[in-house]
Amino acid sequence: MIIRTYITGILLIVVFSLKSLCVTLENWPVITPQLDAAVRSQRDVSNSIPIDQITGIGVSLNRLVFDKKGYTTKALDDVRTLLNVGVQTLMVDLFWNEFTNKWQLCPGPFFANATSDLSTTTEVKWDQKKYKCEAYLTIDRLMQTINAYLLDSNTNLDVNIIQILFSLKSIHKDPPLKNETHAYELDFSSSNPYFLALGNSTLKDSLASIGTYLFTPSNFLTYKNGRRRSDSDEYNSFYNLTEAFPSQYNFLLSDYKRIVAIIIEDDMAKSSDTYHISSLDKETIFVEGTNLDATIDSISNATIVGQCSELVNSQGANNLTNKFDYMSLKSHFRVIADNNQTTFTNNSLSDFVRCGYTPVLNASMYNVYEDDNEDDDVEEEDVNDSLPFIVNNFMPLSLWTWAESEITNRHQGLNMSDSNDQDDDDDDDINKVTRSIAQDNSKIAYRCVVIDSTGWKIRNCYEQHPYACQKTDHPNDWFIDPKKRKEYFHAFLDKDCPKGYTFSNPLLSIEMLSLMDYIKGNDISYPVWMDINDITVSNCFVTGGPYSSCPYQRTVTKLKLARLIAPSFIVAVAVIVLIFFEKFFRTNPIQTNRKRHWKKAINEYDKKYGYEGVPS
Ligand SMILES: *[C@@H]1O[C@H](CO)[C@@H](O)[C@H](O)[C@H]1NC(C)=O
Ligand SMILES: *[C@@H]1O[C@H](CO)[C@@H](O)[C@H](O)[C@H]1NC(C)=O
Ligand SMILES: *[C@@H]1O[C@H](CO)[C@@H](O)[C@H](O)[C@H]1NC(C)=O
Ligand SMILES: *[C@@H]1O[C@H](CO)[C@@H](O)[C@H](O)[C@H]1NC(C)=O
Ligand SMILES: *[C@@H]1O[C@H](CO)[C@@H](O)[C@H](O)[C@H]1NC(C)=O
Ligand SMILES: *[C@@H]1O[C@H](CO)[C@@H](O)[C@H](O)[C@H]1NC(C)=O
Ligand SMILES: *[C@@H]1O[C@H](CO)[C@@H](O)[C@H](O)[C@H]1NC(C)=O
Repeated sequence: MIIRTYITGILLIVVFSLKSLCVTLENWPVITPQLDAAVRSQRDVSNSIPIDQITGIGVSLNRLVFDKKGYTTKALDDVRTLLNVGVQTLMVDLFWNEFTNKWQLCPGPFFANATSDLSTTTEVKWDQKKYKCEAYLTIDRLMQTINAYLLDSNTNLDVNIIQILFSLKSIHKDPPLKNETHAYELDFSSSNPYFLALGNSTLKDSLASIGTYLFTPSNFLTYKNGRRRSDSDEYNSFYNLTEAFPSQYNFLLSDYKRIVAIIIEDDMAKSSDTYHISSLDKETIFVEGTNLDATIDSISNATIVGQCSELVNSQGANNLTNKFDYMSLKSHFRVIADNNQTTFTNNSLSDFVRCGYTPVLNASMYNVYEDDNEDDDVEEEDVNDSLPFIVNNFMPLSLWTWAESEITNRHQGLNMSDSNDQDDDDDDDINKVTRSIAQDNSKIAYRCVVIDSTGWKIRNCYEQHPYACQKTDHPNDWFIDPKKRKEYFHAFLDKDCPKGYTFSNPLLSIEMLSLMDYIKGNDISYPVWMDINDITVSNCFVTGGPYSSCPYQRTVTKLKLARLIAPSFIVAVAVIVLIFFEKFFRTNPIQTNRKRHWKKAINEYDKKYGYEGVPS
C-alpha cells in the first residue's frame, strides 16, 4: 500500500515534470504554435507579392550571438534556434584577413602560436578589443548551419525566404595602434597545415554550401529576361510595374529558392592586400549600389525616423497614395538597423514594421523583461541581454499583420481554444471563448479576421462591421462605407463594393499602411472586416470567402492530430504503468468494496429515476 502510494507519487512527478518541460520548450528554442500560425498566415497572404517587398525580423549575429557566446561552432546552435523561431534576416560581418588572405568570422587574426589546436577557443585581441574565437568557425560552417535549416524547413508548411546581409570589413595589416609595432606579422602567420586549409579566399566560395537555394543576380537576370507575359496573372498586375523580382510563390515553390544574400556595406581598408569583389562574386551575391538598389537605413538617421512617424501618425489628411505606390514599386529590400546608442523599443520597432521595413536587432542589450507570471526560476541577471528574452519580446511585434495581443494573450486571438480541441489542462477555463462554429444555431464563429488599430484580430464572423474594399488594379486604394455594416459572410457574398473594387485584404505591409491611413482619414471606426478567415481548417487563414479551402489541408490535419495525440500519449503511458502496478500489488480488499458500493449506488439511482441501467 505504502509502496504503491510512493510509486504513484513518483509517476505523477514524472508526468508533471514532462509536462512542464514541454511548456518551457514551447517558447525557446521552438516557435510557439500561435506565433507559428501567425508567421505562416502572414507568409501565405503575401504569396503573390514580389520578394523584395517581403518583410520579417532580423538579428545581427555579431551583436547578439558571437560577441556574447564567442565566435565558436557552439554558437551556431543559437543561429539555428533563431531560424527555428522565425527570424528571417541574419546580418553578419565578414572579415578579410590580410595575413591569411581568407575570409573569416572572427574579427581578429589568430596568433600563430594558438593555431596548433584548432578546436579550442582562444582569446583574440585586436583593435583594442578581445574576442573568443575558434578556428573551426568558418563562414562555410555558418552556411552549412543555414543550409541544414533550409533542408529541414523545406515543406509547404514551413518554407520561407531568408535574407543574409553582409558587412565587409578588413583585418588590416597595418598595426591598429602605431605604438604596437613589433614583428607582429610573424605572430599571425601559422604554419599548421590544418589551420591553413580552413576558410575560403573568395566570397563566392564562402557561400558555396548554400548550393542552389541561393537566388543569385544571374538567376535574377535570367528571370527578368525570360519573364513570360502569360505569367502576368501570377502578380496582381500592379506589382508587375516593379523591377520584376519573382513573386514569393514562384521563388519558393516553383524555382525552389530560399535565400537572398546582399552585401549592404563595404568597409574594407584600402590597402594593397585588400579584397576586390570579383565579377564572379557579383554573379552570386547582390551588392548594394552595384547590382541592387536596396534600402538600408539606420535608426540614427533622423530623416528616416521622421518619415516613418509621419506615415504612421498621419491622420489620413494628406493624400499619401503616391508615396505608398512609390515605396512598394521603387524601393527594394527595406531594412532598418538599430545600434548600441539608439536601440529599438516596442513602439519604434512596431512603427518601422508598419512602415514596411525589416527591423534588424543590432544592439547588444535591450530593455526587455520577462513577463512576471509563470517562469519564476529565471535569473535576474539574464534580463536585458539574453537572446531568448530579446527575441521573444520582439518577435510578436515584428509582424505587419497580426496584433501582438492576438499572439501573446492567453485565451485570446490565435490562442483562443478550438472547438474540437479537447485539451482541458488549463485551470482557468471558466468563461473561455472558443473559436468553434457551434453545432447549434448560436451564431458564434471566431473564425474571421478584422483590421483593428493594432493589427489583425480574430472576431466572430456574425458580428456586423464595415468592410474593406480594395481597388483591383491599385492595391493602395481603398474604399469603406461606414454606414454599411455586415456580417463577414454577407460582406463576402453581397459583392457590394463600388465598381472596380472588391472585398479584400492587404497582401503587403504597405497595403496595410494605406488601408489604415484610409480608415483614419475617413473617420471610420475600427474594427473593419477583411476577407480573411480560417473557417475550413483552424489556423489555416485563407482569402476568397468562407468556402476557400486550405491549400495544405491534409498536412495541417495530420500536424494537429500529432499535437492532440502527443500529450495524451504521455498520460496513456503513465496510466498503463499505473495499471501494471495496480495489478502487481493488488491485495487490497477495500478497493473492491468501493467498486461494489458505487455499483449499488448507481443501480439505486437508476431505479429511482427509471433509467434503463446497463444490465449487470
Ligand atoms: C603567443 O604569441 C603572442 C605574441 O607573440 C604572445 O603575446 C602570447 O602570449 C603567446 N601565447 C602563448 C599561449 O604562447
Ligand atoms: C598606445 O596608444 C594608445 C592611444 O594612443 C594608448 O591608450 C595605449 O595605452 C598605448 N599603449 C602602449 C602599450 O603604450
Ligand atoms: C571553403 O572552405 C572550406 C574549409 O573551411 C572547404 O572545405 C570548402 O571546400 C571551401 N569551399 C570552396 C567552394 O572552395
Ligand atoms: C502586367 O499585367 C497586366 C495585366 O495582367 C498585363 O497586361 C501587362 O502586360 C503586364 N506587364 C508586364 C510588364 O508584365
Ligand atoms: C538619412 O536618410 C536620407 C534619406 O534616405 C539620406 O539622404 C541621408 O543621406 C541619410 N543620412 C545619413 C547621415 O546617413
Ligand atoms: C550595427 O551596430 C554597429 C555597432 O553599434 C554599428 O557600427 C553599425 O553601423 C550598425 N549596423 C547598421 C547596419 O546600422
Ligand atoms: C515590451 O513590452 C513587453 C510586454 O508588454 C514588456 O515586458 C517589455 O519590457 C517591453 N520592452 C521594451 C523594450 O519596451
